[in-house]
Amino acid sequence: MTAGLDPLDRYLMNTLSKFAEAKHRGEKLVLVTCYDALTARLVADAPIDAVLVGDSVAMAVHGHPDTIPADVPMMALHTAAVRRGLGPQGFIVADLPFLAHRRGRSTLMRAVERLVRAGANAVKLEGIDGSEADIRHVVQSGVPVMGHLGLTPQHLHALGGFNVQGKSLEAAATLRDQATRLQDCGVFSLVIECVPSAVAVSITRLLMIPTVGIGAGAGCDGQILVMTDLLGLDRSFKPRFARRYADAAGMVTKSLGSYAHDVRSGAFPSAAESFGAGSDSATATAAMQSVGTAS
Ligand code: KIV
Repeated sequence: MTAGLDPLDRYLMNTLSKFAEAKHRGEKLVLVTCYDALTARLVADAPIDAVLVGDSVAMAVHGHPDTIPADVPMMALHTAAVRRGLGPQGFIVADLPFLAHRRGRSTLMRAVERLVRAGANAVKLEGIDGSEADIRHVVQSGVPVMGHLGLTPQHLHALGGFNVQGKSLEAAATLRDQATRLQDCGVFSLVIECVPSAVAVSITRLLMIPTVGIGAGAGCDGQILVMTDLLGLDRSFKPRFARRYADAAGMVTKSLGSYAHDVRSGAFPSAAESFGAGSDSATATAAMQSVGTAS
């Protein structure tokens, strides 16, 4: 079936079927957010199934208090950077940012086109109500779509904050209904964010497509974490559901302190970290000439 495809197309097809098969085999999917080329290069060497260029970039990288400031140019810029770092064979899902799918079909399709041309293999969008026909249209256009239910941060103001969703029986039933409708629209997987574990399990059992949880307990078909939470890069923010696998903030602070100390004490740079005019005279001459040219 895939024999006529070039290796990249075959890879993408395999990734999508990997998502579907993982659920049937009971193998957990592992996703992480990623926003830049350097980190993406590290992800490429790790056993990660897919990366999400999430609109959480607005918070994690740009320092905003929520995801609302993310827009299509911001998402395209970071998607392109992640593609450069990840290489051609990494599966990238890019977030459609705030209102990108709520301003009419042509605005939506321009956003999708921009993200895919920037390097995304799939797009993710939050919610479903009022968007079913548009989601179907994106899927039928050949762009895989990932759904996102539960705590949908783009609906922050309607939800009244970053709160756990689906706590009442009625709210849980609404989530199950929305999840089924998203599946019917053709989404290939569904992020479930900040809902009680039992609700996530009931949605996961209900669906044929895999669920990917964040703050939704261990019963989902896979998990996703925000890179900066996972690495412990932000001391001021530790959501209950995140696990820190490193103290990157501590490492950076310690390194900067050591650097400042070494500069002030004269220990940096050493002779080995400097150019000598003797053995390295060609380099030194070139450096002096470039200084001369620059001045
Ligand atoms: O933007 C993001 O990082 C996300 C994840 C929390 C799933 O949507």
